[in-house]
Amino acid sequence: MKQLVDKLEALQILEREEFKKILLCDEDYLFERARYVAQGVYGKSIFMRGLIEFTNYCKNNCYYCGLRAGNKEAQRYRLSKEQILQCCKTGYPLGFRTFVLQGGEDPHYTDEILVDIVREIKAAYSDCAVTLSIGERSYESYELLFKAGADRYLLRHETANDEHYKTLHPDTMSPTNRKKCLYDLKKIGYQVGCGFMVGTPNQTLEHIVDDLLFIKELQPQMVGIGPFIPHSDTPLKDSKAGDVHLTLNILAILRLMQPNLLLPATTALGTLDVHGRERGILAGANVVMPNLSPVEVRKKYLLYDNKICTGEEAAECVDCMRNRMKHIGYEIVVSRGDFLSHCER
Ligand code: 5AD
Ligand code: SF4
Ligand code: FES
Repeated sequence: MKQLVDKLEALQILEREEFKKILLCDEDYLFERARYVAQGVYGKSIFMRGLIEFTNYCKNNCYYCGLRAGNKEAQRYRLSKEQILQCCKTGYPLGFRTFVLQGGEDPHYTDEILVDIVREIKAAYSDCAVTLSIGERSYESYELLFKAGADRYLLRHETANDEHYKTLHPDTMSPTNRKKCLYDLKKIGYQVGCGFMVGTPNQTLEHIVDDLLFIKELQPQMVGIGPFIPHSDTPLKDSKAGDVHLTLNILAILRLMQPNLLLPATTALGTLDVHGRERGILAGANVVMPNLSPVEVRKKYLLYDNKICTGEEAAECVDCMRNRMKHIGYEIVVSRGDFLSHCER
């Protein structure tokens, strides 16, 4: 197995069968190498992103997600521009230099409304990056938002395998369009993040290899990886959660495949394991995304059950996260935390 890890580190790619083997690796060596490679690029600095969950309305019906339109139990909310700016105002002195606006696909937020919000954030916080995570939109819409100042865009591809995609989403959603959106975003000039859940129903190792190969092709700047966690008011409520160890292996593999990748240790990982985020960093992740949403709405933004950090104030989460990182020998830095391309390294 060590040989395979060394091969991946050297070539940044493996054969399909080799990927399947290394995905099941049970040796600390994989994490050791991933950490070493991460530290070679980013040192022991951890970048922080402030997550502002500004709407939990969604027109889509992904079978796994608690925000799906069909979930009549969800208590819906939207944040106004003023409330969003207030989140930034809270976050800036806490050290946030990236604000992530995340929401369901909510038609209320037209291009006009979003452009105005992005412009105002960038005008008030010119040293900060704005990341959008608001799903599939048209090329024109992505372009308008980029021109308004948005720097980055997160759109998990969810699964690169079209058959598997169709078992997780209704026919109204298309895997082809999702991938097209990612290529559109890259073309426009965004720093782009794709990603997928680990352990969704029917996911096989072959599917995960498809994901790794898709990522190799897309060459995103970020990849969001977290375990699937069932939500009790969704069609997948009785499915079992994803595996933490497999998630960590995938993080480490991605680090070795693309040394400068921005790789978050996700909230979902922290939800399944009290030390999940720390373990993510020790497997090669270099980003954390504490919640900056107003405490009043946090319990309403439930993609899955038992989500952590829904009762804490932003300052409490930042303190908690800073201590967690310090405890494992890492340090949260005050920085936009941009992707480092090869020439800057
Ligand atoms: N478990 C884990 N992650 C989920 N997401 C949505 N529902 C769940 C769930 N039940 C993830 C999706 C989406 C991101 C915002 O959250 O990958 O892209
Ligand atoms: Fe909507 Fe995203 Fe949830 Fe799908 S995963 S239902 S698009 S919020
Ligand atoms: Fe939110 Fe620990 S990071 S309470």
